[in-house]
Amino acid sequence: MKVMVGVSGGIAAYKAAEVVRALQRQALEVRVVMTEGAQKFIQPLTFAALTGHKVITSLWPTGESEDASMDASIEHIAEAQWADALVVAPATAGILAKFAHGMADDFLTTMYLATTAPVLVAPAMNVNMWEHPATQANLELLKQRGVRVIEPGSGHLACGMVGPGRLAEPEFIANAVLNALGRSHDLAGETVLITAGGTREALDPVRFLGNRSSGKMGYALAEAAQSRGAKVILISAPSALYPPAHCELVKVTTAEEMRNAVLSRMTEATLVIKSAAVADYKPSFVADQKLKRTGPLTIEFLPTEDILAEVVRQRKPGQLIVGFAAETENAQANGRAKLLRKGVDAIVVNDVSREGVGFDADLNGATFLTATTAIDFPDMPKRALADRILDEVVGLRRPQSLLVEMSSAAMSSSGTNDVSRLESSVEIDGEVFVAGPGSRRQIIFE
Ligand code: PMT
Repeated sequence: MKVMVGVSGGIAAYKAAEVVRALQRQALEVRVVMTEGAQKFIQPLTFAALTGHKVITSLWPTGESEDASMDASIEHIAEAQWADALVVAPATAGILAKFAHGMADDFLTTMYLATTAPVLVAPAMNVNMWEHPATQANLELLKQRGVRVIEPGSGHLACGMVGPGRLAEPEFIANAVLNALGRSHDLAGETVLITAGGTREALDPVRFLGNRSSGKMGYALAEAAQSRGAKVILISAPSALYPPAHCELVKVTTAEEMRNAVLSRMTEATLVIKSAAVADYKPSFVADQKLKRTGPLTIEFLPTEDILAEVVRQRKPGQLIVGFAAETENAQANGRAKLLRKGVDAIVVNDVSREGVGFDADLNGATFLTATTAIDFPDMPKRALADRILDEVVGLRRPQSLLVEMSSAAMSSSGTNDVSRLESSVEIDGEVFVAGPGSRRQIIFE
C-alpha cells in the first residue's frame, strides 16, 4: 500500500525521516511532499534517499530541467490518486489551519483537498500554540471531516517549555496509518514465538559449523506479527539485524540452546513459527584448544534434536505450529513430506537453490502448505512475504462452523460433492470466501 508523507515546517521535521522508516518497515511504499517551511529544517535529499523517489517541494516546476507542461501542474491530482493514505508529520499549527479552511496554496494543501484517501495529521508545536482555541477549533473541524488526529506527546519541547506538543513516536504514527488503511490487528491477543537465524555448532574455541541464514525472514515475521497486534518472543540465533522494537529477543547460539529456549517459552505461545535454520548435526567432540593443521581431519557428527518435532509433541490445545522447509530439489513434494512427518499445521517451503532469494537475501518466494492446500507466493521482499504468510496463518484460525458452511455452499451451488470439481464462493459477514480448485477448496473439507 502507498502512503504520502507530508512534512510541514516545524523543528520536528527532522523526525519525519524516522516516520518514513517506520512506515517502510511495515512494507508500505512511501513518498514525501514537503512544504517550503519544512525545507528550512531538513533537506529533500534526505527523503529522496530514504524513499528512492523524487520529493515534491512545490506546486510549480522548480528547476529549468523540470517540465512546465500541463502534466506537471496537475501532479497533485495524480499524487492524490496514487496515495492510499496521506499522513502529515509533523503537522504545524499553520498547516492545520490551512487544511481546516481549505486554503490550497502549495502542493500539500492542494493535495489534501484533492485526495479521497484517509488523512492523518500528527501535530507538533509549542504548547501554547497547541492549546490555543484557534488550533483546537481547527482540529475539531478536521476531526468532524474525518481527519484522524494523532495526538502529540507531552514532555520537554524544543522551545524549552513543558507540556503537550511533541510529535508522536514514529512507530505510533505508523500504527495509526496501518489502522487507517484497514490493516487490522488480527493477531491481537496472540503470543507468537518466532525462531530466526542460523545456529552455530562449535568445532573448537574459534571455529564453528554454521549456515547462511541471516535472520531476515524471521525478523520480518516478528515485525509483521507485532504490527498486527501480537506479543512477539523472538528466539534468534546469531544475526547482524536489529530486532523490531518492543519484541522480546532471546539470543541463542547452538541448536541445543535454541531447543531449551523454545521449549521453556512455548507454553506462553498461541502460535509458533520456526523459520530458523537449525543445525541438523553437531560435532561429536569439541576441541578445548584451537585445532592445529596436522593433516587430514575427520570429524564425526551427531544428529541434533529436532526442535520442531518436540514442539509438536508438547503442543497445547489451540496452539498453531508453523514450520519452514528449506529445500534445494522437489521443493513442494519434500515440503509436504516434512509437513506430514513433523505433524505441523502448516509449512512454508522455500526453494533455496535459486539465486537472489532465500538464504541471506532480501527477497523470498515460497509455498504455504497445509495437509491439503498449497498456496504459492511469488518472490517479494521478506517483510511483504511475512504478511502473506500471516494472512494464511490467521485463516487457519477460522472456526470449523464457517468451513462447514462454506463447504455446503460450495457443494449445493455446484451440484456435486466431488471436491475436485467444486468451484464456488460464499459471502459470510461481508467477506467472500472462494471455494474452488486451487483455492481454499481442500481446507473446507479438512
Ligand atoms: O534467515 P534468512 O537469511 O532470511 O533465510 C531464511 C531461511 C531460508 C533460513 C528461511 O526461509 C528457512 O527456510 N528456514 C528454515 C531453514 C531450515 O532449517 O529448514 P529445514 O528444512 O532444515 O528444517 C525444517 C524445519 O525444522 C524448520 O522449521 C527448522 O526450523 C526446524 N528444525 C530443523 C532442524 C532441527 N534440528 N530442529 C528444527 O526445529
